[in-house]
Amino acid sequence: MAPYKLPFLTAAKSRAKKAVSVIGVDARSLAQAKEGFSAAQRKWINSNGYTAKPGEVLIVPDEKGDIASVLFGFGSDVTPLNTGTLANRLPKGCYRLELEGDLQTAALGIALGAYRFTRYREHKPSEAVFIPPDGVDLEQLSREAEAISFVRDLINTPTNDMGPSELEAATRKLAGRSKAVVRVTRGDDLLKKNFPMIHAVGRASGSAPRLLDMQWGRAKDPKVTLVGKGVCFDTGGLNIKPGSSMALMKKDMGGAANVLGLAMMIMAAKLPVRLRVLVPAVENSISGNAFRPGDILQSRKGITVEIGNTDAEGRLVLGDALALGDEEKPQLMVDMATLTGAARVALGPDLPPFFTDDESLASGLSAASSALHDPLWRMPLWKPYNTMLSSKVADTNHITSGGFAGSVTAALFLQKFVEPATPWIHLDVFGWMPTAKPWCPVGGEAQGIRALYQLISERFARA
Ligand code: BES
Ligand code: MN
Ligand code: ZN
Repeated sequence: MAPYKLPFLTAAKSRAKKAVSVIGVDARSLAQAKEGFSAAQRKWINSNGYTAKPGEVLIVPDEKGDIASVLFGFGSDVTPLNTGTLANRLPKGCYRLELEGDLQTAALGIALGAYRFTRYREHKPSEAVFIPPDGVDLEQLSREAEAISFVRDLINTPTNDMGPSELEAATRKLAGRSKAVVRVTRGDDLLKKNFPMIHAVGRASGSAPRLLDMQWGRAKDPKVTLVGKGVCFDTGGLNIKPGSSMALMKKDMGGAANVLGLAMMIMAAKLPVRLRVLVPAVENSISGNAFRPGDILQSRKGITVEIGNTDAEGRLVLGDALALGDEEKPQLMVDMATLTGAARVALGPDLPPFFTDDESLASGLSAASSALHDPLWRMPLWKPYNTMLSSKVADTNHITSGGFAGSVTAALFLQKFVEPATPWIHLDVFGWMPTAKPWCPVGGEAQGIRALYQLISERFARA
């Protein structure tokens, strides 16, 4: 957690500053915008072939060769996060945004666009600074930007530096900032304390499997429990993944990274909730003691589970963690997991599906998602597909034999570990940006946590 520096000036500092205007234009408004420029400047805009495509930047000089202003392609049909381009394209100086639309998200785009993963290689950050537009909540912005950068760093850090023990250390460090309490059940204690599936998945690794349990807030406040898949590396186990599918599997703790980032925001804002974060932190590894296809596992919930494929490990560790979370009947339980390839087949990498049977949670989360430009899409917990999970020898299988509706059946498996009365949402996230976007380089990415924060802060607002 490097100290986080926003590319924005404080309100006090910005009053005294002269700043270059960054003028938002789109293809339609460009002609009119040009009228505000001199003949020479209009010629410059034309000769540069500037057409105000989304994210397109053009620096316009004055007669003396100084920067007069900056044109920036910004339209209502693209996400305001496109401002991320500005974070890296402008020379040293102070800039003022003259954009129309959702300025809170536009400002966030700049902060997120400035992110680089610098643990193993230096990166010289841009020296452009910005005056925050009127009405922007800089504290909210800085909580979001810091949390998202934390999530990205956790995911980008490879497993040799982010195995189960390092993920525990990162959780303890986060807890330390806000005086949260962390309890850890590790190795064979997982068996004594009845987490058989977490133990089975993680026991073949040189870094012992563990369940991280972080608690924060006042006991009398509503209980919000976040559960994150913390598979620090997913080889697939004995059902080993081919090299091309294994290459990115350091990101299989993306669910854990996301819930830790969300927890960071909740604790920084001191939301009136009793927060609990559960992370089963394991490595799905291969060794003589690895769990096998055909094994039948006990689970904390008491359901016996036939193992169809050791590569469907995430739902196993989550099953035990969800069962624990559910025992104290939280007012809300949310889990996040890089759970299935099928979710990506259905909706692609940028649009994570979420699953819940609670209609008010579903509409609240969808509304927050679109208002905040934090994409999420509801998919169904389609009960008839439960038959696909049936086993001939155990209470349930954890996978299905056909390839149909893989993210739905994974969600249905998780639902077996949560009582119907518990308000519960499951998010199947990708946790990775496969092609660079203005607000995010290729690499780890937070998904859905701004929308979830909004949902939680609305639902559990201070009385
Ligand atoms: N971690 C993977 C899912 C995954 C793969 C997410 C690639 C994002 C990108 C998970 O543990 C897994 O391997 N799932 C299998 C399940 C199957 C064996 C039923 C999958 O989706 O193929
Ligand atoms: Mn797997
Ligand atoms: Zn996995």
